[in-house]
Amino acid sequence: MERTLILLKPDCVQRRLMGRIISRFEDKGLSFVGMKLMQVTPELAKQHYAEHVEKAWYPTLESFITGGPIMAAVLEGLEAITVVREMLGATSGLKAAPGTIRGDFSSSRQMNLVHGSDGPEAAEREIALYFKPEELVDHSPTIAPWLRAADE
Ligand code: TYD
Ligand code: MG
Repeated sequence: MERTLILLKPDCVQRRLMGRIISRFEDKGLSFVGMKLMQVTPELAKQHYAEHVEKAWYPTLESFITGGPIMAAVLEGLEAITVVREMLGATSGLKAAPGTIRGDFSSSRQMNLVHGSDGPEAAEREIALYFKPEELVDHSPTIAPWLRAADE
């Protein structure tokens, strides 16, 4: 089992797309183990996007991500990190394949609706950035035997 961080970004919240996006992850069989609505501060934005802080486009990214509430969540499932990234599609909604979240809902490189951790190290770092351990709820969905074989 793997855990990954997702953020439903301010465009997702403002466009009233949270429910439809959450449904996609539920439909896939991933489990929510943490979820909260919050406001990203400039300080948190710089920590989250540390690898991009020096980029010319970072100031507009910070304005965007701090420009309204976001919903942060932790998803759990087999190969959850890769599965979620594949569900999101390419970074730009203009390049993302139809059928992906960004491909279906975004026409922007910046306003691409959802963040997903890009690897195991990022997932661990980002989950710790947004959630205290006690905010994550360990549970085994009763439907689990119908989502995957016992030896998977
Ligand atoms: P990046 O880590 O490259 O994309 P991803 O979210 O797919 O891992 O970039 C982080 C975010 O920065 C991206 O989701 C949207 C934004 N961004 C811009 O605003 N301008 C840009 O030119 C790029 C490449 C990204
Ligand atoms: Mg990235």
